[in-house]
This record gives sequence, structure tokens and C-alpha cells, in this order.
Amino acid sequence: MADRFNTTAGWALFSGLVALGLASISAHHFRADKENRPEKMGYEIAGVAKGGAGAGEAPFEALLATADAAKGEEAFKKCASCHTIAQGGANGIGPNLYAVLGDAIGQGRGGFAFSDALKKKGGKWDWKALNDWLKSPRTFADGTKMTFAGIEDGQERANLMAYLNKQGSNLPLPPVPAVAAAAGGAAAAAAKPGDPVHGAEVFKKCSACHALAGANGIGPTLGKIVGDDIGKGRGGFAFSDALAKKGGKWDEASLDKWLANPREFAAGTKMTFAGLENAQDRADVIAYLKAN
Ligand code: HEC
Ligand code: HEC
Repeated sequence: MADRFNTTAGWALFSGLVALGLASISAHHFRADKENRPEKMGYEIAGVAKGGAGAGEAPFEALLATADAAKGEEAFKKCASCHTIAQGGANGIGPNLYAVLGDAIGQGRGGFAFSDALKKKGGKWDWKALNDWLKSPRTFADGTKMTFAGIEDGQERANLMAYLNKQGSNLPLPPVPAVAAAAGGAAAAAAKPGDPVHGAEVFKKCSACHALAGANGIGPTLGKIVGDDIGKGRGGFAFSDALAKKGGKWDEASLDKWLANPREFAAGTKMTFAGLENAQDRADVIAYLKAN
């Protein structure tokens, strides 16, 4: 049960982050057009588009688990001006990429003239190396001759890798880490099962608006909320339309999402609470709510 909770909470966090990631696609296109703008500047622009501090990307392993190879094939059009992918395809401006995942970095490829930067890198193209490379070739191998700005969007990189993997590599997908640490360290998935005792402490942040029993306050009473309807009942509390229309029941995953960012879960909610950034605090307060 505890394990299942962690998994659910992890996925809830993850899907939230994917949604954030989508917001950065436009920023990515902007960046890709500006091939020669300094790397650093591109990151800052993308960061702003993602919604400021705290917004991060799910780990690439998690993005790979939901990657879509068909979309990756689409994305490969960005590469096709320089790379062929079919088995035995010719080298062009860049080397043929058949079965590149798992293969040595910057070696072979029908005698392609790699830059020293890539030739000397050593190791194999595993998932992590390829992810880093596609994010920013110049950061991965300073001096590379692949003049491609990189792909800022993590899901697009994952889609591409899923596609590349199907072209002769067929490596097993990497395991998704239990702790999904988001970039910037703002949000980290629950590392431990929820602790209701600490949850009672966390609940002090809620108690200005919520009690567990008795009269509704600024917010509804929260006794037996886990398993109950979202935005309904609660002694006739006047819910916002945003929450009343949401549908479904509160479970650990939906509560985790809600408490991480109420306005993202239900745009237009009247719960004026910024959210609990710390995943462990969320897990603990949910355990506390479950016990009450
Ligand atoms: C403008 C041309 C160009 C584009 C666009 C381009 N590449 Fe490259 N790519 C190169 C060149 C040149 C190299 C060799 C780099 C070096 O030697 O430093 C390379 C090398 C690589 C390698 C390393 C191969 C090996 O055997 O070590 C991979 C993997 C790769 N590219 C993938 C991609 C993918 C995926 C895309 C699309 C998202 C892409 N490239 C877009 C030119 C390009
Ligand atoms: C500033 C006041 C305020 C604070 C602080 C606050 N909430 Fe709320 N909460 C509300 C309001 C108002 C609603 C109703 C939201 C709506 O209708 O959109 C609500 C709704 C909820 C709901 C949905 C109840 C239902 O029946 O669907 C839950 C669960 C909840 N809050 C939990 C919490 C927890 C846990 C905390 C502390 C971590 C917290 N809230 C902090 C005001 C607050």
C-alpha cells in the first residue's frame, strides 16, 4: 500500500510536470530558430516561459516511459537534413544514425570524420548520454561540429530517443527513479510513505481555512475527505465552479496534485493557497487526512 501510494504520488507529480513542460514548447521553437544565440540565454528564456521558479522537468526516465516513437519520427525531420537513419544509409553532414543507441560515442559510423571533441568523449550512447547530447550538443561536447542548438523540451527528446531506439538498437528502457527530483530542487517526489504525525504539523498551514469537523470556514471541513467527491457536499459549502465541475473522488494522487498547485489542478478555484512545494509534506498531510 505504502509503495503503491508513492508510485501514485510520483505519477501525479510527474503528469503535473509534463503539463508544465508543454508550456515550454513554444520557447523551444524560438530557441531552435536562434541557432547562434548563447546557450545560457536560451535556457533563461525557456525558464521564464515555464512559469518561473520551481518549474522543472520530470526525469528523462519517466518521460521515456510515456514516450511516443511516432512523434519521435516526426521530430526526426529536424535531424534529417544532416542524418540518415536507415541501415546502411550514407553519411551526410552528420553520420548515419542506425543503431546509434548503445554504440560507441564518436567512433566508427563508416569512417565518419568526427570532431576531436566527440571522438575523445569515450563511452557509449546510453540513454543519459543521448538525452544530454540532444538537449545541448555543445554542452555535452564542447567543440562538436554538430551545429544544432538542441531540443529544450524533455518530452520531445524522449520521443526522439524512443524512435531512435527502434532503429536497430532496441535497448531496454531505463528504470524510472523512485525519487523524481525536479530541476531546481523545488519539488521532489515523496521519498517515504506519508507520516500522519508530521502531517498534523503541516495541517497547521491549512487550519486558518479548514477544520476537520464542525462548521465550514473559509474552506470546507475536511474530515473523511479521502474517497469523498471532489467539490461536492461538505454541508452545502459554496464551492467554486472550477472545483464543483471537476468530477471524480479525492484519492491520494488527486490530492497530491491539488496540494502541489491548487490553481493548476482547478483553474479558477477559490482556495487561495499557493500549494505545498515539498512532496513529503504533501504525503504527510494526505496521510493525516486519511487518518481523520
Ligand atoms: C546541421 C546538421 C545536423 C543536424 C540538424 C543534426 N545533427 Fe547530429 N550530427 C551532426 C554532425 C556534424 C555530427 C558529428 C558531430 C561531431 O563529430 O562532433 C553529428 C553527430 C550526431 C550523433 C553522434 C553519432 C555518433 O556515432 O557518435 C548523434 C547521436 C546525432 N548527431 C543525433 C542527432 C539527432 C537525433 C538530431 C535531430 C534532433 C541531429 N543529430 C541533428 C550534424 C547534425
Ligand atoms: C486561505 C484559505 C485556505 C487554505 C490556507 C487552505 N485551503 Fe483548502 N480550500 C479553501 C477553499 C476556499 C476551498 C474551496 C475551493 C473551491 O471551491 O474552489 C478549499 C478546498 C479544499 C479541498 C477540497 C474539498 C472538497 O470537498 O472538494 C481540500 C481537499 C483542501 N482544500 C485541502 C487543503 C489542505 C490540506 C490545506 C493545507 C495544506 C489547505 N486546503 C489550505 C481554502 C483554503
